[in-house]
Amino acid sequence: MIIADILTAIGLGLALMHFTVPLAYYMHLRKKWFYKPWNVKKDYDYRPKICIVIPTYKEADRIWLKLNNIYEQDYPRDKMHIIVVDSASPDNTVDVVRKWASNHSDVELTILEEPIRRGLVHALNYALKYVPEDCEIVIFTDADAYWSRDTLRNVIAYFADTSIGAVTASILPNTDEARGEYTYREYYNVIRISESKMYSTPIHNGVLVAFRYKLLKVIGGLPTYTGNDDSTPASLIAFMGYRAIQVDDVVVSEHLLEKGQVMRKIRRAQHLILHFLHTKRYAKKLGIYKRTSFDKIWNIEAYLHLINPWLLLLATLLLVMQALHDLIALALLILGAILLTYKPYRTWIINQIILIVATFRNIVTKDIIWQK
Ligand code: GDD
Ligand code: MN
Repeated sequence: MIIADILTAIGLGLALMHFTVPLAYYMHLRKKWFYKPWNVKKDYDYRPKICIVIPTYKEADRIWLKLNNIYEQDYPRDKMHIIVVDSASPDNTVDVVRKWASNHSDVELTILEEPIRRGLVHALNYALKYVPEDCEIVIFTDADAYWSRDTLRNVIAYFADTSIGAVTASILPNTDEARGEYTYREYYNVIRISESKMYSTPIHNGVLVAFRYKLLKVIGGLPTYTGNDDSTPASLIAFMGYRAIQVDDVVVSEHLLEKGQVMRKIRRAQHLILHFLHTKRYAKKLGIYKRTSFDKIWNIEAYLHLINPWLLLLATLLLVMQALHDLIALALLILGAILLTYKPYRTWIINQIILIVATFRNIVTKDIIWQK
């Protein structure tokens, strides 16, 4: 009986810890940082040369609109250089890009073609070799991400401050019916923006991530232990002592997939897990690591991605075991189940499951080259 009570108590304790740490972190950040002004000297007249790299694999349907979208940015065209790097797309992506280029000769565009597909990170490393020396800012952006007209101007203004090493946009999904997705993004945007105001955030978004080129050179391109092109280089730059921030005045909507949205989330979770497992050590190995307040942010985010989901799993398993003979355990499980009707809670639980599934999937494949 006593042992049963103890096991139920441990289950409850683990569950409480699972929920209170992220909630307390969220509330602390919101109270202390979210409403603070940015400690950044922005300059909207700063006009460095920027290089926009678009990786493509099977993007024939979208790339024309994407190029138009960049072309229409409120930024001098002679200060823009677009690089499209394609990895042997079986559709006619490259033909579309060629045609677009011949129709728009007033902007510099380089087309790079990899003979075989080796994944996003490899493609971008290949592209980095062709970034001209006079480019001060390098931007990676997914072919399916569309920006509002003032996006580049707003992003570049931050780089006038020499402490800024990387800038990423906030994301909102572009469909109204995706309420669950909204709650999830709102919660994370508060955290990422607050972390950024405090110092830097370890998670950046591929819809738009901008780097100071000289810092990308210091890290020697993107590491290949993970498949993301955003969070990992940005965090290496943060470890170097520069700020890597998600800003609140640049919002890009992301189109949700009708098919394969869950698989995509699992893949992104896999890449984030690999990111949190390796990036700090990699920074030390490169000899660029500096101790800053980024460490605190990094440690808690690493905990939230690598350890916290498992507390929930353990708690659930313990309580299920106990529920057979302990009414309190049964009641707790039922409460947990009833709460699933509350969308934010459900979204949270689903994300925890995704992180757990992603951990197992990483054993089988790191998904550096994913299905498209
Ligand atoms: N050249 C090249 N080679 N481009 C690729 C490859 C490849 O092997 N694989 C994907 N891409 C391109 C796509 O065409 C798209 O422009 C961009 O990379 C992002 O790929 P998506 O397939 O659209 O992925 P997503 O939006 O779900 O992926 C996000 O997650 C990644 C981490 O898992 C993106 O935001 C990435 O930036 C992020 O790193
Ligand atoms: Mn995409």
